Formats: sequence, C-alpha cells, structure tokens
Amino acid sequence: MSPRKAADKKTASGGTDAGDLGSAHILVTGGTGFVGQAILERLLSDHPQSKISLLVRPKGSTSGADRLRTLLRKPVFSVWRDRVGDEGVDLAIAERIAVIEGALGDLTTLPDDLDIVIHSASTVSFDPPIDQAFASNVGGAIGIYDALTASGSDPHVVHVSTAYVGGLRKGVAPEASLTDKVDWRAEYDMARGAHERVELASREPDALRRFISAARAKHSKEGPQAVAKAAESARVEWVRTRLVDLGRIRAESLGWTDVYTLTKAFAERAAEEMWAAAGHRLSIVRPSIIESALRHPYTGWIDGFKVADPLILAYGRGILPEFPGLPDSILDVIPVDFVVNAIIAAAAAPAQPGQPSYYQVTSGTSNPLPFHAMVRNVNEFFRSHPVPQDGEGHVQVPTWKLPGGREVERRTQLAERANNTRERLIERLPSTVRTRAWLANVQRRRSDLESFRTFADLYRAYVQSEIIFDDRHTRALDDALPGALAVDRGFDVREIDWDDYLQRVHIPSIMTLTRAFAVRPSAKKRAEKPLSQRTDVVAVFDLEGTVVDSNIVEQYLWIRSAGFRKAAWPGEFASLMASLPKYLKAEQRDRGEFIRVFLRRYSGMPASRLQQIVARGYGETMLRHTMPAAIDRIKAHRDAGHRTVLVTGSIGTLAAPLAGLFDDVVASTMHERDGVLTGYLDKPPIVDEARAAWLRQYAEEHRLNLTQSYGYGDSHSDLVWLELLGNPSAVNPDTQLAREALRRRWKINNWKRGPRGVNRDYIDGDSAAKGAAG
Ligand SMILES: NC(=O)c1ccc[n+]([C@@H]2O[C@H](COP(=O)([O-])OP(=O)(O)OC[C@H]3O[C@@H](n4cnc5c(N)ncnc54)[C@H](OP(=O)(O)O)[C@@H]3O)[C@@H](O)[C@H]2O)c1
Repeated sequence: MSPRKAADKKTASGGTDAGDLGSAHILVTGGTGFVGQAILERLLSDHPQSKISLLVRPKGSTSGADRLRTLLRKPVFSVWRDRVGDEGVDLAIAERIAVIEGALGDLTTLPDDLDIVIHSASTVSFDPPIDQAFASNVGGAIGIYDALTASGSDPHVVHVSTAYVGGLRKGVAPEASLTDKVDWRAEYDMARGAHERVELASREPDALRRFISAARAKHSKEGPQAVAKAAESARVEWVRTRLVDLGRIRAESLGWTDVYTLTKAFAERAAEEMWAAAGHRLSIVRPSIIESALRHPYTGWIDGFKVADPLILAYGRGILPEFPGLPDSILDVIPVDFVVNAIIAAAAAPAQPGQPSYYQVTSGTSNPLPFHAMVRNVNEFFRSHPVPQDGEGHVQVPTWKLPGGREVERRTQLAERANNTRERLIERLPSTVRTRAWLANVQRRRSDLESFRTFADLYRAYVQSEIIFDDRHTRALDDALPGALAVDRGFDVREIDWDDYLQRVHIPSIMTLTRAFAVRPSAKKRAEKPLSQRTDVVAVFDLEGTVVDSNIVEQYLWIRSAGFRKAAWPGEFASLMASLPKYLKAEQRDRGEFIRVFLRRYSGMPASRLQQIVARGYGETMLRHTMPAAIDRIKAHRDAGHRTVLVTGSIGTLAAPLAGLFDDVVASTMHERDGVLTGYLDKPPIVDEARAAWLRQYAEEHRLNLTQSYGYGDSHSDLVWLELLGNPSAVNPDTQLAREALRRRWKINNWKRGPRGVNRDYIDGDSAAKGAAG
C-alpha cells in the first residue's frame, strides 16, 4: 500500500478531514444509474451530516419521489438499510434528501446554497443515434451549467466524464484538459438538426419506393396492411440506423472511438468554458471501464451488465470463436467502489477557481490488465464453471489465439457467406421436420454471427487500444487520504489482484445476474402447458395443411374423381397441369387471389351433386387425411370449455365432414345460379388480413379474450392473424412461417397423418351430420 499523509485541512464543504464532506449541500445527477446509486449510498452511509438534492426525471406516471423510494430498496443500499432500519430510511428521505424532478436539458430552478455538485448523469450507450447522444451528453451539460449559473450557487462541480475522451490515440493520455480544437458548438447544432434531415430523406419518393418493394417481397402474402406496416417499420429503422451511423462516422472522422466518447469530450469542453472559465471550481473525474465493487457496499455488487460484461457472457456461451483484440492492449477496468471513492475524495478537495483539476480513475498505468490476461482469466473461469447447453451438456469455450483483426474479419466473412448459401438452399427445399431443424440451425448461426459483429465493432476500440492513462493526480488524491479513512475509502489500484477480482468477484457476480445461463428447455422439448378451464377463449384452426394434410387442389381432385366418368379424366388432368404455372404465381403473390382463381374450376357443377359427393366418398377421403394430433387438440380445447372454430379460405361445403368437431366453421360460400355453381365466391376469401379482421370482430361479438386464446396455422399467410393471439402455434409450417415462429419462439407442432388417417369413431360424433355453411 502506498504511503499516506494524514491531511488535516479544512474542506470547502465544511468538513475537517480530507475525504470528509461534512455538512455540505450536494446536488447529485444520475443518482438512479449505476455509479450514481453507489455515490448516493456512500453519502447516506458515511457522510451523515450531508444534505442531498437528487435530480431525478419522472418515468411515465412514476414521479421522481416515487422513483427514489423504489431506488432505496435496491441491493446497493441493503447494508445501510440493515444498519439504520426502515425508520432510518424514512428519516433520511424526510430530512436529508430533496428530490428535484426534471431532466438535464429541461431544468427548473436549482437551490442557491449548493456546496458541491456531482454531475454523473449521461447516456452511456456507445452507439446511440447522433441526435440523442448530443442531446443527453452535450445538451445535458449545457443545461446543468446554465441552471447553476442562474441559481446563484457557487458549488464545486465534480463532472464525471470518461477516460476514453482522449479519443483514438497511442501512448500516454495526460490528466489534463483535452487539446483538440473542434468547434463543439457547431457540432452540437449539426447533430441537433440531424434527426429532421434524416426524416426528410426517408420520405423522399425513391426511398419510400425501396421500403415498399422490399416489404412487398417479404410480406405480400400477409396482406396490404402488413406490407404497409413493414414498409413504415423499415423507414423508421432506416432513420434510426442512419442516425447511429452518422454518430459513429462523425466520431471516427474527428478522431474518437464512438459518439459516446465524442460527446463526453464536448461535455468537458462545455464544463470548462461555461463553469471553470467563469471563475468557478471544477474537477473532472475520468473513470475507465467500471465494473463490480471490490469491497463496498459489498464484494461483487453490480447493477446489471456493464461495458465489458456482454463480451464476457458471449464468450461463456461459446458464440465468439475468436476475437479481433490486441493481446498486449490494456483493457482498462476499475471497480465501481474505487470510482465512487475517488469522486468523493475529489469533491472534498476542490480545485482552485478557474483552474480545473483532472483525475483519471484508471488501472492501466499503475496495475495494468493486458487483454491476454483478461482472456486467460475468462477462459479459466468458464472451464471450471461451464455454462449449461440449451439441450444438454455444457458449452466448451474456445481458446482464443487472437490472430489479429484482419484474419478474424476474413474468417467471419467466410462463415457469413457459407451460412447465407446454406439458408438459400434450405429455402428451395420443401418444408419438412428436417428442413425446419436445418433452418433453426442457420438462424441460430446467423444470430451468433451478428452478435459477434456487434461485439467486434463495439469493443474494437477498447481491445485494440494502445492508449495508457496517466493517473498521477489520482494517486496523489488517494495518498492524501488519512490512513484510517484510506482502508475503507481508498482507491489505490495496486491493491487489486486481477486474477482474484475477475475469477472470484466480477465474473461470478455477473453470472448470478443472468438467466441466460440457466438450462432452458429448447422449444422442441418444452412441455405442453395444460389448458386452463375457461369459456372466454377461442381456439382457431386453419383447415388446409393444419387439420388436414391436403390443399384445395387435392380436394378438387377428390371431388372430380368421385364425380367424373373415367373417360373425362385425361382432359381434366391436362387442363389442370396447363393452368398450374398461373396458380403457382397467384399463390406466391396472394393466397386470396389463388383461391379465387382456382375455385373457378367448380363453375358449372350442380350444387346438389357437390353435396352428394362430399357426403359420400369425399368425406371418407377427408377423414383419412385428417391428423389425429389435430383432433386430439381440438377435443382438449373443447374439454377445457374453449370455443373452437375451423376457418378456411375455401368454401364451407368442402369442410363439412369436420364441422361436428367445432362450434363454428367460418368459410366462404359459392354463388349459384339455378342450382348450378358459378365458380364465384359470395364474398372475398377469409385469408390473411381478412381473417385477422374477422377474428377481431368475432372476439368482440362473443366477448373473447384474444390474448389468452389459441391459434393453429401452417402458412405464411396465417402469420397476421396468429399474432393476434396469446398462444399461437405453427403446424407443419412453410419455410416463411417456420422462420418467424423460430424468431418469435412460438410453438412449432410437427403433426402427422396416422397410417389410415382417422375414422368417424375417432372423431366421436357424426360430424358430417352437422353440416357447414356454404
Ligand atoms: N459505466 C461505465 O463503465 C462508465 C465508465 C466511464 C465513465 N462513466 C461515466 O459515469 C457516469 C455514470 O455512468 P453510469 O454507468 O452510472 O450510467 P447509467 O447507469 O446509464 O446511469 C445514467 C444516469 O443518468 C441519468 N440520465 C441520463 N440522461 C438523463 C437526462 N437527460 N436527464 C436526467 N438524468 C439523465 C439516468 O437517469 P434515468 O434513470 O432517469 O435514466 C441515470 O440515472 C456517466 O457520466 C458516464 O459517462 C461510466
């Protein structure tokens, strides 16, 4: 441990020892965040005479004061709460903490008797849209310094920044003011206008045409509303991505790693120009990557996943076979309690008016953790504590050889290309249990590769960095703490044993936070939940491909084979084959169009003849093609008191053999003239969006709760109505529905026809007797 001198100087805050804030009135911003919570806890537990004003923005209908009450129940306060009890907490809220409701850029009056301000609030994401990053980090800083100036207070401001404000550089970054000459006010104005500019560009006809045609290619089978919705989502996403990209590229073009560090650098400039240059006291504290507490409030405390954690967790899950990091770059990590201790020590040792102090609370100079050592620790941890695999067994973590950015990029591109080719091939094959399993693997691989790219992009600057942060001022600040105080409130990074910290403190603490590491049964193995008894839900079954393994072409052939003389068969068959390309094209475009066009083949058939055929041979064939698992499921819903409905885009007469199983059959009716079918439907077929509209209306009429209801469909065109239901299932889905079902973690049923289908006894009741509309 470094030598310390017992300082006995009077602090600006009214305390008498270094590190003591006495009876100071302290404004804290960002108190609901990771670092802010830990600052508040320290003030409450160890500076009992201090008075705290906390800037908290309301969230939805929750006021700032309510947020504070919830906040004080969080784990960081547990030790303090146990010590002071519920009354002590209430007393602190009543006598020591005043909530100032508001956001940084929108501040009302601040108190006029502030001694210290700890400004910690910020947007900490690396990759926000440029306008949001500037609004929070630069606009927020401007807002706070404007409000302080207006208040008449003359506090010492501890402005929390980041060590990475130094930007993209090699070598030592000093604890001093930044030297860049960028016109930060002009950048701020441009960023504020970016949103409007990008919104306008997204509404140009050429852009809109691109969104619509991409949406049509993917969603036309779901209906025109789905196409419009997808086109608009694509536009909104384009705006967001473009704003993120603008932030990233503008930061890089000015010499910073990302828009976060760029805006934090500009916030420092705002602090210097608006506060220090006006003759006030300013200390800028720049921590590096903040992670779990080493000691205070207890070993391992952390509030959610922080900067390095997604990378550690992704490694543990085995989805990062390699990484583009430099083995000897320094991953500059610092425990959160060291940061809080340094902030409070800085607050108690104010800078001279007009001459800001700079503290880099970092580990890279005094106790470096090279990236290769971090990798070794993470590897050792996951080898001794392997993560359970989705199915069974454990993830075998890879050994990173860190071959360099170029080689990793080459391998990633190859893997992406191979996966895309595999996906294209699978999409050409018929949808079967096996091809759906292949599709699931391809999707999993794609999501792993996307995660890898995100991680590689986000962390590149941090794990390929050759920057080292000077920390002499910070060490001197720590040395100035009196010996007795230093044991608990010191921040000498040389005390940290990285192997111990990573393997015993930090990684175990983030592991306890994640459920991703609990064994999660795969969708396939998830047990079917028993159906709850209730009468306010409906189970909707699509017919073709879901309850029966046939389609309307086959049904037509069954009818024709029962009603035709043998001699007429070849002509009928040839005509059907000749029209096949027309039918396929219509089916690809729009399911409703295909049904309409195909059903024209019934034109000229006497309606009574069709009914006769359905009641005889057709009915038996239909039952042979019915899937026993479907019948079991329909019965289970009926036993649970659920309303059951069969829906088909085709005509009701053809669904009649199964009508007895359902409370309702919803189908179209074919128009007749003088007892002869015209081939025209009485109304548009009930498919895709039309089915969704019918379902909404049906639920309203029968007072049904759709979020608790069930749906079973097999085709992409079923997506739009299935998503209205709380319990959607894809049954033997086509490739597009399978892809969506996998993405949304819907249940996928692989139902098979029995060796001879089902017979009337199995259905238990004469379904044909009930008949169906149409
Ligand atoms: N975490 C790190 O590894 C790290 C490293 C270096 C430096 N830092 C710096 O440390 C400080 C704290 O970071 P953190 O990790 O505690 O961040 P955090 O957990 O994301 O917390 C951010 C805090 O800022 C508040 N905030 C954001 N925008 C605001 C606005 N417009 N008005 C009012 N409050 C606003 C948030 O309030 P809500 O609860 O209302 O959202 C929250 O309290 C930041 O200045 C950051 O740049 C952090």
